[in-house]
Amino acid sequence: MTFVSSRLPLAPPDASALPLAQGRPFVGNLPFILSDPLGFFQRLSRSAGPVVRVRLGMAMGELLLVTDPAVIAHVLEGNAGNYRKGRFYQRLRGVFGNNIILADGPDWRRQRHMAAPAFSARHLEAAGWVMAGSAASLVERLDGAARRGEPVDMLREFMDVALNVIIKTLFGVGVGARAEAITAAIEPLLREGERRVWWPLRPPLWVPTPVNRHLRSVLAGFDRVVYELIEERRRSGERREDILDALLHARDEAGAGLTDQQIRDEIAGFIVSGHETTGTTLAWALEALSRHPAVDTAVRRELDDVLGPRRPTATDLPQLVYTRATLYETMRLNPAVWTISRQAVADDVVQGIPIRAGTVVMMPPYVVHRTAAHWPNPEGFDPERFRNGEPRGTSKFTYFPFGGGPRRCLGAHFSMMEMQIVLATLLQRFRFSLIPGSLPEAMVTLTLRPRDGLWMIPEIVHAQPA
Ligand code: HEM
Repeated sequence: MTFVSSRLPLAPPDASALPLAQGRPFVGNLPFILSDPLGFFQRLSRSAGPVVRVRLGMAMGELLLVTDPAVIAHVLEGNAGNYRKGRFYQRLRGVFGNNIILADGPDWRRQRHMAAPAFSARHLEAAGWVMAGSAASLVERLDGAARRGEPVDMLREFMDVALNVIIKTLFGVGVGARAEAITAAIEPLLREGERRVWWPLRPPLWVPTPVNRHLRSVLAGFDRVVYELIEERRRSGERREDILDALLHARDEAGAGLTDQQIRDEIAGFIVSGHETTGTTLAWALEALSRHPAVDTAVRRELDDVLGPRRPTATDLPQLVYTRATLYETMRLNPAVWTISRQAVADDVVQGIPIRAGTVVMMPPYVVHRTAAHWPNPEGFDPERFRNGEPRGTSKFTYFPFGGGPRRCLGAHFSMMEMQIVLATLLQRFRFSLIPGSLPEAMVTLTLRPRDGLWMIPEIVHAQPA
């Protein structure tokens, strides 16, 4: 890593006065980012400060690494209107469509307005039952492995649960066996999405390379099933408590609804944003509990006190304060969305720092959440930090696993519900230990996940809860 160090005056006259990570000729810092993004950005922020220019090489230009919470608050919230998702996200459109996660400006505002009712209290209540049912099925699946003393890849299990939950809350029980076609398509599409973020030279999907041909057939399979489900529901006119119902009946301010293609794109967005994030967070939570027996005991005590032998439902969740704090602490150390980026529309200045139009601003929660200036004992695992919930006020952007401002995660409440229900249900039945000698290592895909899965041995500790 090569730095051109600079004095950083209080009000730098122009962006060239900011610290610069030069990297290698032609490729800039891309090789470092591709081989160890977490370590690279963490070291850079520690050594060069909270606002650093990072060269990405000839093909990708430059980005601005920002780990100062006040600047992040400005970009994501205070002056959010001046920042769009930008070019990193644009590369995903060809794969996932123009959904709420990727859209910008008035198009995004309309989509947000129309998608929000899908996460209303009524829909969340229905989703709670789906979550409880999926958690119970997972317990049944793990029972056999526990009796045989077999290790299980809990990352895989949690991904499956989260995918199952999102598909059932999207389409209701009517999805039946077609869930499998959707499941089969998602993994290759996600992996292609992440390649597109960091490899700018990947040809667009219409270019008939062998990889693209395969992807197009995967996408066609996904589309066929999703359009079929939309069409069936439109035809039946039936009303349900699922997300598809909310999207079919959503209206914008002018009273217009979403087209089938727009509904398909939103569905793809919900599946992508909702399953891997939740699945990986659950995996990290279990990994942390297995390494921190005092926390594990405290969570179990709370579950005993609040639930006794009863399975958790959505109405129990406000009382599961320590369980929730454990999930918050998990997302502090291992935020599934490890980085968030935006691109400036017009020139801006924040805290005397100039941000030129077109600048890509990268704000990694992973780095901010592990900064000693904001978090004492930053590498330690201590849910007590979150007994009173998430930080608020001026320290809000020292912790932002769900992003912030107008584009804060629409599924934050949904996923907290799901993670509490699944974790509580599992811990009522099992204790989990890592395979001796294994220490899961974090790797970056679209989300932050354990590199080789999370192989754990479940041990039955309680009779089946009622
Ligand atoms: C642990 C689980 C989750 C985490 C950590 C997470 C994190 C995030 C983050 C950081 C953003 C903001 C991205 C940005 O500003 O660029 C976001 C946006 C979003 N998330 Fe989540 N998410 C989770 C679960 C979910 C679930 C379960 C759903 C849906 C069922 C969901 C739906 C969305 C949507 C629709 C957006 C886009 C909001 C907008 O741009 O208006 N997320 N999420």
